[in-house]
Amino acid sequence: MTVTAQAPAKVNAQLSVGPARPDGYHDLANVFLAVALHDTVTATPADELRITCTGPDADQVPLDRTNLAARAAELLAARHGIEPRVHLHIDKDIPVAGGMAGGSADGAAALVACDALWDTRATRAELLDICAELGSDVPFSLVGGAALGTGRGERLAPLEVGGTFHWVFAVADGGLSTPAVYREFDRLSPDAPAPAAAPDLIDALRTGDAKALAAALSNDLQAAALSLRPALADTLAAGTAAGALAALVSGSGPTTAFLCADADAAARIAQALIASGTCRTARATTSPAPGTTLVTGA
Ligand code: C5P
Repeated sequence: MTVTAQAPAKVNAQLSVGPARPDGYHDLANVFLAVALHDTVTATPADELRITCTGPDADQVPLDRTNLAARAAELLAARHGIEPRVHLHIDKDIPVAGGMAGGSADGAAALVACDALWDTRATRAELLDICAELGSDVPFSLVGGAALGTGRGERLAPLEVGGTFHWVFAVADGGLSTPAVYREFDRLSPDAPAPAAAPDLIDALRTGDAKALAAALSNDLQAAALSLRPALADTLAAGTAAGALAALVSGSGPTTAFLCADADAAARIAQALIASGTCRTARATTSPAPGTTLVTGA
């Protein structure tokens, strides 16, 4: 038997970051929005845990036990007293180390696929618990849609979204380390105030108003990402010049996100970004998108 699950990428419509906590994490007000780019994980019985990966950036994906898909299988198996004898194949479409939660998507998709393959029948609460153990963004990869994440981002409250938003994502060459970006944030903002969600942003999501959302988007990690990768400013400027309603770094970067008026504008802005030579490639897509879903098997 084989089971396949897919999980979405995310963009942070708002990433409000507080000071470093004693445990090294940062309290956040993190407005997650799932976007319709997906990684797909296929789980097949095997003699031992094994990870393979295909896709344009597959060579940058670790295939050892540090891969969140492998850790998801191990955590679920340990909780149910079984051995994680599974081959997990990741078909990767989400940019790697790009600030779009691609690794988190693989963790959530592997968890849902293994739960179906092994018939472990974990409750939603147990799945969310394992996701939070895997990483701060993984619970959102499971639930999708839109949500406000507090704590280190793992405590989720769903948000209403009143329409479809059109985005372009520009993929940079090479990744950025999330801990390094947070460290740079600490250096640049030693007196960061407590994080808070912006009411205007929540309203714009609820009404589906792209112009209002464009005015409210914000990312407290943007200055840190630009400090570590100054060339991203050229990408942001190229998307703005091409007519994007707003341009910002996605999460900890280096992927940049451009909110667009409609699908035609998104197609045009993606082409302009590719032609600008300021990014490796650019993809048009939409939000919100559903969370992790089984696509075959069970
Ligand atoms: O939770 P996760 O393993 O995805 O976090 C990766 C790294 O990002 C952490 O080790 C930490 O350096 C940083 N981080 C943080 N505050 C958060 C989430 C992540 O400092 N709320």
